[in-house]
Amino acid sequence: MKSIKFAMPSLKEAKLRKNIDIETVRYTLEDKYKDLGKGKSYYIFTYGCQGNEADSEVMSGILENIGYTLSTDPMNSDVVLLNTCAIRENAEQRIWGVLGQLKGRKREHPDMIIGICGCMPQEENATNKILESYDFIDLVFGTHNRDHLPQLIYQAYLTKAKVVEVLSNQGNILEDAPKVRASKHKAWVNIMFGCDEFCTYCIVPYTRGRERSRAKDDIIAEVKELVANGYKEVTLLGQNVNAYGKDLGIDYTFGDLLYDLDKTGIERIRYTTSHPRDLDEKTMLAMRDCKSVMPHLHLPVQSGDNDILKIMNRKYTYEDYMAKITRLKELVPHISITTDIIVGFPNETEEQFQNTLKLCHNVGYEGAFTFIYSPREGTPAAKMPDSTPEDEKKQRLLRLNEVINAGYKKGHERFLNKVVNVLVDGESKNGEGMMCGYSENLKLTHFKSTDMSLVGKTVKVKVTEAKTWFMIGELCE
Ligand code: 5AD
Ligand code: SF4
Repeated sequence: MKSIKFAMPSLKEAKLRKNIDIETVRYTLEDKYKDLGKGKSYYIFTYGCQGNEADSEVMSGILENIGYTLSTDPMNSDVVLLNTCAIRENAEQRIWGVLGQLKGRKREHPDMIIGICGCMPQEENATNKILESYDFIDLVFGTHNRDHLPQLIYQAYLTKAKVVEVLSNQGNILEDAPKVRASKHKAWVNIMFGCDEFCTYCIVPYTRGRERSRAKDDIIAEVKELVANGYKEVTLLGQNVNAYGKDLGIDYTFGDLLYDLDKTGIERIRYTTSHPRDLDEKTMLAMRDCKSVMPHLHLPVQSGDNDILKIMNRKYTYEDYMAKITRLKELVPHISITTDIIVGFPNETEEQFQNTLKLCHNVGYEGAFTFIYSPREGTPAAKMPDSTPEDEKKQRLLRLNEVINAGYKKGHERFLNKVVNVLVDGESKNGEGMMCGYSENLKLTHFKSTDMSLVGKTVKVKVTEAKTWFMIGELCE
């Protein structure tokens, strides 16, 4: 298949991230694209973080705006998009696997449009591999131009060529884009995009551009509209939400935003992800003062060893981190804390790993995402020689997970015989006649009921059993 390359990814450009004003793009649709998808269907595979889930909701909105309808069967859809993740090697392996399955389908159904988007195409080597070895892919685009989707599909139909547009710039802010939200009572709300932290292992600053905050009025208006539409919970999204506002050069921080959003009448506010260095007193005070801000904090630590933290460029120490945890527990005594941890960073010693275990004991995490370090091309850590054997890394992950899993269970046990408020999501996969939802501390809670009118409502549940991954309880009312 011939290809039309509007723009190719460039690591050099991505590293440059020009310091020019960030443009706010207000979504509009040209008339010629309006019926592009009339009578046709689409499906989106979403991988990776909540940021990608939110982006997929926007792409669904745009596709439905041009006439496509959602299909339940990817293999029988007219447009299939894979919204990809580049954070670790295994995330990418999974995507190459799905592409293999789609290849056969495309042979039988040549008019199908297969697109790959999100973080993977932002990497030069991934896009080159797609161009060289995955000839059946029609569309390749990145994280900065999902609003171009109508034009890109139009070009693909018109030219029958592979259409590539991956921008490696500082990024923009997209407003007014249509969204098809996956839930009717819980919503993602982006408050900022990109990352300026440059942790040495991480590809995100190169795939997602510069840190850029949405205007507070746009965020508040979105949350007010969600409240008016019956939404109960928002999760504020950003790679580093605690840096909110810094790029705007105004005296208004993430803590201020929490206080303002609390006034919108939304029942629950959550946020992710936080950077320990930028977590400030005002945010912690807002967690204490605002009824809607839920008592759970995901605070990625990555390692408990000061030398490793330094080489990771995390810009805080074990002591700094513990001081913030102590303050947080003072202000919000019933808080649940979760984290992200990487084991096997280049040359991590047993002693350094032990410092991570020590930190876990001292914090008392009630959950964590744990990973083996995965070298990402283009990042500083990928160039570091590494003497720690792979087997040793796997053992460390198992040992860490034992500690973390015990923390999950303890986190559930502390609610035994207590009544928790659960925002009901729907039927539970934990047996017939059961429903489930999340408590304020983000504990998955199952209870006996078949009353579907409870979905989207907050109910009181008395916890009767605490398992590792969830709690079971009885409906009080
Ligand atoms: N290898 C392993 N884990 C990583 N993460 C980010 N980059 C890498 C990498 N190269 C983890 C961090 C981060 C989470 C989203 O993914 O723990 O917080
Ligand atoms: Fe990656 Fe660090 Fe930014 Fe998180 S804060 S996205 S780990 S560079």
